[in-house]
Amino acid sequence: NKRIRIKEVLAMEPEQQEITVMGWVRSFRNNQFVALNDGSTNGTLQVVLTLGEFDEALLKRITTSASLKVTGTLVPSLGKGQKMDLKAATVEVLGDCDPEQYPLQPKNKPSLEYLREIAHLRFRTNTFGAVFRIRHSLAFAVHKFFNDKGFVYLHTPIITASDAEGAGEMFRVTTLPMEGAPTTEDGKIDYSQDFFGRSTNLTVSGQLEGELGATAFGEIYTFGPTFRAENSNTARHLAEFWMIEPEMAFYDIEDNANLAEEFIQYLIRYVMQHNADDLAFLNQRLLDEEKQKPQAERSELDLLQKLQFVVEHQFERITYTEAIDILLQSPHYKKKKFQYDVKWGIDMQSEHERYLVEKHFKKPVIVTNYPKEIKSFYMRLNDDGKTVAAMDILAPGIGEIVGGSQREERLDVLEGRMRAIGVPVEELWWYLDTRRYGTVPHAGFGLGFERMVQFVTGMGNIRDVIAFPRTPKNAEF
Ligand code: 4AD
Ligand code: MG
Repeated sequence: NKRIRIKEVLAMEPEQQEITVMGWVRSFRNNQFVALNDGSTNGTLQVVLTLGEFDEALLKRITTSASLKVTGTLVPSLGKGQKMDLKAATVEVLGDCDPEQYPLQPKNKPSLEYLREIAHLRFRTNTFGAVFRIRHSLAFAVHKFFNDKGFVYLHTPIITASDAEGAGEMFRVTTLPMEGAPTTEDGKIDYSQDFFGRSTNLTVSGQLEGELGATAFGEIYTFGPTFRAENSNTARHLAEFWMIEPEMAFYDIEDNANLAEEFIQYLIRYVMQHNADDLAFLNQRLLDEEKQKPQAERSELDLLQKLQFVVEHQFERITYTEAIDILLQSPHYKKKKFQYDVKWGIDMQSEHERYLVEKHFKKPVIVTNYPKEIKSFYMRLNDDGKTVAAMDILAPGIGEIVGGSQREERLDVLEGRMRAIGVPVEELWWYLDTRRYGTVPHAGFGLGFERMVQFVTGMGNIRDVIAFPRTPKNAEF
């Protein structure tokens, strides 16, 4: 007898057919009704054990999260709340679960903070079931979107000698022994020998390698883990996060913005179409949370309405200079409500970004042409000599969700900037070769995958949208 997944069972018509299901017990009532879940959906199949037909010893073993194999017939349910029951003929306990020890009991609703401490078990809750099925769907949709457009999926390296962002936030990778490592003349460990004669680190971005691909295939994307050794403890930062980085030859910054907007809307639409149940569950979860807040602080739109709005409306497009002007003229600024000062040249803080999207425009905003001093070396210098063709996308509730730019394709200008800000020109000879051999205008961006999952699921903390979050002091499992 072949196992059928519960999601499929729940979509069937009960016609006395014999089926087999396997899953974990969510609850067991009156020694008769088992709510069985197998992870294919948050829904449970009601398994009915006819009283007297199963012996005491077996019934005792049906506890929350015990695993069962059940064969029976699918019949219309007599009870309310479900269409069908599985009338059990045989029940086999595959694995017991001691209720004295198992931390997730149906009676007490665990907090997200507590579930983070038992991240190895949290997939078994409805909230995380929904979040991680949506995360899966989003990952699939990423590949579908680019594949349908003819982009090549390029696998860029995890271990690398380069610092793509030039920000020095790298995890070192070393083969050096803890003791007896080679030393330099002044007696310090010689990190230039990390990896058989090279100093190496975990990648912060696949972009530079992505540019090599784009200047051969035309359009590529990467989708992989990236690492930032920043000691930030916020609800938006991880030390290990996944990034999607498309890179396109013959694109200027406007083409780049168009693609990013289309991409984000596509991802949202995909989840709305393919994960309606899980989205509805998360929406309800947020509505319950909102009810705890005072009326004035509750949000006008629910999660589903917000997503619908985003796919139906164009993103706002402004320059950095315009963004600063809006902030300077805002009542918020005049009432001195920003913690950080606002003036042309600042690296906008998340309070500024969130003011723009949440209070001012109330939709995603694409900000372009940032001061060159606060952006990376590879961004194309604008004719004003002061700004670069950078492009950040800010999303309500999130802040920066995309960072990108048109790239500097002029060898002399690029080399000049690298030297001016101390990026090692000689080490990046391979990168500069793209500018030597048939250079072309090109552009790309990086979408933070977890921030995208946060946006779609409405989860407030980034630690709750990645299976095993890596944050300072958090690396056990
Ligand atoms: O703005 P970032 O640093 O841009 C780059 O890495 C470029 N190389 C991208 C490119 O043009 N190909 O990072 C891009 C995005 C951010 O907008 C944010 O969504 C996400 O990656 N991100 C993080 N997400 C979680 N935790 C962190 N510590 C993140 N740092 C960046
Ligand atoms: Mg950025």
